[in-house]
Amino acid sequence: MSFTQWYKEMAVYQIWPRSFRDGNGDGIGDLWGVLEKLDYIKSLNVDAIWFSPLYPSPNADYGYDIADYKSIHPDFGDLELFRQVLDEAHKRGLKVFMDLVVNHSSDQHPWFKESRKSKDSPYHDYYYWRQGRKGPGARTLPPNNWTSLFEGGAWEYDANLDEYYLHLFAKKQPDLNMSNPKVRSEVKDILRFWLDLGVDGFREDVVTFIAKAPGLPNSYPRLPIANGMKYFSNRPEVYDYLKEFRDEVLKDYDCFTVGESPLTDADIALRYVTEGEGQVLNEMIAFSHMEADCFMTDMLRRPFSLRKMKRAFSDWQYKLAGKGWNALYIENHDHARIISRYGSEDYPVESGKLLAAMYILQRGTPFIYQGQEIGMTNIRLPEIGMYKDVASHNNYRIFSKLFGKKRAMELLKETSRENARTPVQWDATANGGFSSVRPWFNVNPNYTAVNVAAQENDPDSLLNFYRQLLAYRKSEPLVLYGDYLELYPKDRYFYAYERSYRGRRLLVICHFSSLFHDFTAPADMDLAEGKLLFSNYKENGLKDRGFSARPWELRVYEL
Ligand code: GLC
Ligand code: CA
Repeated sequence: MSFTQWYKEMAVYQIWPRSFRDGNGDGIGDLWGVLEKLDYIKSLNVDAIWFSPLYPSPNADYGYDIADYKSIHPDFGDLELFRQVLDEAHKRGLKVFMDLVVNHSSDQHPWFKESRKSKDSPYHDYYYWRQGRKGPGARTLPPNNWTSLFEGGAWEYDANLDEYYLHLFAKKQPDLNMSNPKVRSEVKDILRFWLDLGVDGFREDVVTFIAKAPGLPNSYPRLPIANGMKYFSNRPEVYDYLKEFRDEVLKDYDCFTVGESPLTDADIALRYVTEGEGQVLNEMIAFSHMEADCFMTDMLRRPFSLRKMKRAFSDWQYKLAGKGWNALYIENHDHARIISRYGSEDYPVESGKLLAAMYILQRGTPFIYQGQEIGMTNIRLPEIGMYKDVASHNNYRIFSKLFGKKRAMELLKETSRENARTPVQWDATANGGFSSVRPWFNVNPNYTAVNVAAQENDPDSLLNFYRQLLAYRKSEPLVLYGDYLELYPKDRYFYAYERSYRGRRLLVICHFSSLFHDFTAPADMDLAEGKLLFSNYKENGLKDRGFSARPWELRVYEL
């Protein structure tokens, strides 16, 4: 993790490699494609790339099931090619972060294959192998009543050993036993391997789950998904393990760490990210602001609540102020596209710009997910057979039982993370310019209208808006370091906040509605005296102390 401050000023572009760009013509995105697009990435005014997993994987969870931590999936290239990408990225001033997925490995990892050979294997204790419990009659029950996040119960039986192994995610993602010092040594070894190769840091997958409560107790009330979370989320040992990784490896490198932290509020995040001697991560990836249209999981949909979203953002902004640094994002490979969720497909450019400014102008490090910068929207695949993602199938199964198949399908279409995994739309040619052959996954048919090439030369495009916004942010201490203050927190249509720094102020006004509503600035803010820096409409007149806001209108004033 970095003990200097560079990570505070950077913006990060996330690549989900399978769908970014196919460079060798087999229909699958790869590192050849990344090489081709490095100049494009640089042109966005970002400073770093985070790669979702590039390692060899049987793809039970598209790379998040790793079979070899020190190599590159042949679909994506090889280590040599990766070195070249790293080199070329560095030449352009782009840092490179890897995805570190060590809560679990693939069941095809040699450690796991060895661990299941016998109870005496030196690898047996790399995983959570446990005996079943005696149930009623002669039945054997799994070791406890936990359920996975991706595939029913959290335990899988192995007849050869007559034992079960724990998997918090899919069956093919056995959990690594981080309490075993040998496993932690392996992790430190992996960290060193990539750092010595020259990578600049890690996004650490579900890092808050890497420790489990001793004894693995039963959990009540029983939930169909993630039952047992109080025993596997944010256990005190997580901090100890991260400190060990820091002290024994990371402190020797000028690298960045961001932990993915489901089920973690800002107060808990401060445990890890508070600056000073105790800091063990640079940033954490929050979830609460992604729950403004759902409850706990994306599939439990509710109407979008602007107030809920604002509360979540502000909570992290206030609590981390002066103590830690935020990771800011509104899209990644695990969530449906944001214009389709929090914005409006009827006003894709207007709402796309509004959403961009809304989060990028807060205090923290912005992350931009591939395709977000051109306003890609949900594909809404209509049949369960068209889905490839293990979590989507699991959700469909569970929600079919609860609400029936028809409703489950409607929910899946809106919420599946596969909406974010369609190939990037580069131009209006066949397959959206992603590949010269039929891609591994459906291209959103709107590629003819929504694509990079069409937006390149349009000064008013969403793409160019992202560029301007990111350039501005980087050059402006007011945005980088200014204080954050939310205005009108109870308002249902406007998200407005102020940033202030050394007597200068920035006012960000976001109108979350397809209708018209009046905005009135606070008494001490004279918009007519201010300088309009960003907006998403051509004419920007004022009326009284504000203006009548049009659908999804955005205005950013410096005062
Ligand atoms: C994280 C990843 C997600 C993956 C899961 C299991 O949440 O972002 O894509 O499926 O962990 O590794
Ligand atoms: Ca390819």
